[in-house]
Amino acid sequence: MSAGHSATEAHQPVFVGEVRQKLDALFPKYPTRQACLLPALWLVQEARGWISEGAIHEVAEVLSLTPAYVKGVVTFYTMYHTHPVGRHFIQVCTTSPCNICGAEDVAKAFLQHTGCGELGATSPDGRFTVIEVECLGACGFATPVLIDDDFIENVTPERVPGILQGYK
Ligand code: FES
Repeated sequence: MSAGHSATEAHQPVFVGEVRQKLDALFPKYPTRQACLLPALWLVQEARGWISEGAIHEVAEVLSLTPAYVKGVVTFYTMYHTHPVGRHFIQVCTTSPCNICGAEDVAKAFLQHTGCGELGATSPDGRFTVIEVECLGACGFATPVLIDDDFIENVTPERVPGILQGYK
């Protein structure tokens, strides 16, 4: 996913060319078209970096669902972006077990060292967006952080600058 995706692009059809081929390849693997909703949304996000209102309508049409149903799913899961995000999407678990181990300070360190400043905002260089999320399923390894598809455990504020160096 990339911050280089323009707002204009987001209003163009997404299911064309290679993306359409990937979508068509999904259909035989699921019992119904509607059952392809989650992977279809991933395809949109991979192609565009986020899921716009236009894309929600397109997904609804191609899967014979209502836009309201698709939007309900998109907004339920924090992994789907409803607005443009940075090239690297950082999710910090700050739920209670991690919180008492210092997760808030880890989140603050990411905000400070990325330049994002606040949760949900994108850094001025377009590299990062940081959010807090609920339990990432690694409560014994506080603080766990998900950067794009990389799962990183035992993150401390001191480790943050070194971790960020791996993401240009
Ligand atoms: Fe943080 Fe479970 S509470 S991973």
